[in-house]
Amino acid sequence: MSIEKDFIVIGSGVAGLTFALKVCKFGSVGIVTKDALEESATKYAQGGIASVMAEDDSFELHVQDTMQTGRGLCHEDFVRIACREGPARVRELIDLGAQFDRIRGAGFDLGKEGGHSKRRILHANDLTGWEIERTLIQAVHAQDNIEIFEHHMAIDLITQARLDEKIQPGSDEDEALGLYVLNHQTQKVVTMVGRVIFMATGGAGKVYLYTSNPDTATGDGVAVAYRAGAKIANMEFFQFHPTCLFHPKAKSFLISETVRGEGGILRLQNGDTFMENHHDLGCLAPRDVVARAIDYEMKTSGDDHVLLDATHLEGYRIRERFPNIYKTCLEFGFDMAREPVPVVPAAHYMCGGLVVDANGQTNIKRLFASGEVCSSGLHGANRLASNSLMEGLVLSHRAVEKVVNLFKEPKNFKNSLDRIPEWDPGSAVDSDESVVVSHNWDEIRRLMWNYVGIVRTTKRLKRAERRIQLLLEEIQEYYWNFKITKDTLELRNLAITAQLIIQGAMTRKESRGLHYNLDYPEPDDANWKQDTVFQNTVHRLITQTNPRIVTHE
Ligand code: SIN
Repeated sequence: MSIEKDFIVIGSGVAGLTFALKVCKFGSVGIVTKDALEESATKYAQGGIASVMAEDDSFELHVQDTMQTGRGLCHEDFVRIACREGPARVRELIDLGAQFDRIRGAGFDLGKEGGHSKRRILHANDLTGWEIERTLIQAVHAQDNIEIFEHHMAIDLITQARLDEKIQPGSDEDEALGLYVLNHQTQKVVTMVGRVIFMATGGAGKVYLYTSNPDTATGDGVAVAYRAGAKIANMEFFQFHPTCLFHPKAKSFLISETVRGEGGILRLQNGDTFMENHHDLGCLAPRDVVARAIDYEMKTSGDDHVLLDATHLEGYRIRERFPNIYKTCLEFGFDMAREPVPVVPAAHYMCGGLVVDANGQTNIKRLFASGEVCSSGLHGANRLASNSLMEGLVLSHRAVEKVVNLFKEPKNFKNSLDRIPEWDPGSAVDSDESVVVSHNWDEIRRLMWNYVGIVRTTKRLKRAERRIQLLLEEIQEYYWNFKITKDTLELRNLAITAQLIIQGAMTRKESRGLHYNLDYPEPDDANWKQDTVFQNTVHRLITQTNPRIVTHE
């Protein structure tokens, strides 16, 4: 079965839905999303969206805060664009119906987070992401030109290079034509073709044992695009959020940085404060510093968590400002207004990703990306809190401006579309060994947590590199022999994402921002004030003998 749309959007968080909503005026749109439409990391964002709104704030201050947090690797030109254009995009959201908290009779109730020199975080209590997702979904549902494919998962991209052996993957001649997609409710594979493929699949927190991310965050966009020849940058910069609830059943529930922004204090289990020993900004230092400080204190004391103390804040303020966090902590037996809650760091945000320009264009023509899946240059070596929802809005808007021009070009790839074969499972059979998938999944997450976490060493990275190579070979073999399922696709993507993180961490022989290696503890501007970029140029043709674009060595 094949489906043709003008624009195919993969992912349904802030980046994907913003693009779909704006581009549907120019052509038909298909949104491919692997779970229910609302199930994205956006939905779970608590803190808010950074935007210069206050009179005592300025674009320049936002630019400086972003660049300082990014430790010399931010691309200043894009940082300036994002900080300047962010407020206009936020106002569009408000016009669509998003409601951010206001101070009675005055302006917005702006929050504060680590690394920000001013209050500039718009929020909807502590459910900001859900408010944005709700607003965008409502608007998307009102459009006739958008078709939604829930429970559909991207398998692999179809590109010119995959149809023609003379074209190098990711070269100037290469372009994206479509993708194979698994409907994992019917197990049928659909061929989708489009004039523009827009990657907005979010991050990859599930690559680590403990993460604040939803189960959907398995690095799909990075892995799918990398296999097709897209350039991937800065994967070693994985942000760990300092404060996730420590409870065996809480699945690393996030306790927003805005709790510290409102005065919450980090303490050791004996009640002592410690952040003043690590940074002038104390509990509101940038996240890399806070997460590393907690890791250090836990290793020094042998404790398995630290405490976040908000008991000195007025109880009603906690309940009103953080109703979701308050309620969730209570469900796990902690009354935040009366007792400090146990917290630990957990994997939170992938700062690297598909290399894009200031309009979301990747190195493959007609393949665009926005949001957490991409590397635009905004975050550098560490993301400033609450800059990500803003980035998704800005980049998706700018991508629409660019693709509309592409759209005006004559449809000169019709011949290629006729050459795209239907998906063929080859000789793959149903698996009777699903234990391989669950075992490998678990092994990857553990090895990433233990060897490629907050504090790294070259020895541990080498160990991780060897293990991931073996796992990749095993997964490849499994993928070749058995019919694909959502689990096998996710596992393959997770393994490739893990490999890219390890490769980035091995390559960068210094410590900077979120990448901290005890063997190279200092930044090395002379050699490493640059992005790490990886590109896979292995040619994998879609042929009758290799219908599933697999390398099977
Ligand atoms: C938080 O609320 O602490 C998360 C915000 C973010 O990651 O930007």
